[in-house]
Amino acid sequence: MSRPAQSIHGQWSSRWAFILAATGSAVGLGNIWKFPYITGENGGGAFVLVYLICLAAIGLPIMMAEIMLGRRGRQNPVNTLHSLALDENRHPNWKYLGWIGVLAGFLILSYYSVIAGQALAYVFRAFSGVFEGVTPDGARSIYNALISDPERLLAWHTIFIIITMIVVARGVQGGLEKTVKFLMPALFAILLLLVGYSANTGVYFDQAVGFLFQADFSQLSSTAVLTAMGHAFFTLSLGMGAIMVYGSYLSKKTSILKVAIAISIADTGVALLAGLAIFPLVFANDLSVGAGPGLIFETLPIAFGHMTGGTFFGGMFFLLLVFAAWSSAISLIEPTVAWLVENRNVSRRRASVMVGFAAWSLGLLTVFSFNIGSTWTLFGKTMFDLLDYLTANIMLPLGGLFIAIFAGWIMSQNTSNEEFDIRYNFVYQIWRVLIRFVAPAAIMIVFLNATGLI
Ligand code: PFF
Repeated sequence: MSRPAQSIHGQWSSRWAFILAATGSAVGLGNIWKFPYITGENGGGAFVLVYLICLAAIGLPIMMAEIMLGRRGRQNPVNTLHSLALDENRHPNWKYLGWIGVLAGFLILSYYSVIAGQALAYVFRAFSGVFEGVTPDGARSIYNALISDPERLLAWHTIFIIITMIVVARGVQGGLEKTVKFLMPALFAILLLLVGYSANTGVYFDQAVGFLFQADFSQLSSTAVLTAMGHAFFTLSLGMGAIMVYGSYLSKKTSILKVAIAISIADTGVALLAGLAIFPLVFANDLSVGAGPGLIFETLPIAFGHMTGGTFFGGMFFLLLVFAAWSSAISLIEPTVAWLVENRNVSRRRASVMVGFAAWSLGLLTVFSFNIGSTWTLFGKTMFDLLDYLTANIMLPLGGLFIAIFAGWIMSQNTSNEEFDIRYNFVYQIWRVLIRFVAPAAIMIVFLNATGLI
């Protein structure tokens, strides 16, 4: 069947625009806020190694699959999977895979926005100079003062959701593309500056390098392996159709392999740089590596508070973190917005407001789980922990598993081969082995192992 040449939402203006937008989606709180703290909680090197293996063996092939499916389907993930399944004479129920993604994006945005709101609050704290000369205890109490106040958290969460809705409402080129073009290079530069600062801590920097890169497998539990795999999906924005919907705005001429590699390298680079910036400070100030979600908010102000120009750089850092979170948040709701526009005849602007409002409401659970609702638990987890666990460790890998099965087994070899650049046929063969066998088997083994079934 012939496929539409373009999505009704338009197209990226160039290959670079796509790389930047997809990198903007991938690089976010996951790299700078989450990667360091889950690495700290899971013992360091061995966890990082498993994470890197998952990125290369599972993440990269699934990213290529998502781009390919999106570009071929040219619609939101629900319709894309529906129509590609029909093309192959398969059951239209594959569209429900798109629905899992839509739901996951909405659940993730609900808590993502609360953390991004905390980063936004820190922009103002940093620029106003409150970190100058701050002690580790002082940094901790500044953070506690923020999260223990539901009203303040709610206000920042609201602001972040509103700015997300505004960009999505403006569409592919006018909103998404424009925003990410100048953000990514600036973020990279400030991270390098911070690593430079941390490198001057001498022995503590060495200790941090050891912590991140020396694998001690006695530290690795089966749940840590699940967390590492889940984070590989989360950080690359995979398993929920975000990259798929971005792929639907991509030109036919672009090499899928090249863009997928570029995005993965940039994403991994930012995470490792964040680790190299943060852990030396943790060790130098005798803080706990397992501090959890507050880690960056409690450590980085100490560095900014003692470096020359720290007020400026601190403010810039949190500002860029907000930008990174922003360019990720827009990709979290783009699949749902695209679905509403295509299937329900709703205007883009209206669709953005509807989805944003729904995520905002659910976000209240996360706001309260830092304060008045910290004792509301289910399966021993706060609402925030539960949402995080459910989406990152279960929904995204499960979505990824079915995307791999779809691309490797449901879609015919002829069709997928057509989407890849023929000059790279051997790469195509490797991809096919990874997507048909390696990725599905690895995801299933990690799942069964973490649930104690094997
Ligand atoms: N990749 C983003 C991050 O690392 O912060 C989070 C994310 C964005 C996950 C978009 C999933 C997604 F679809």
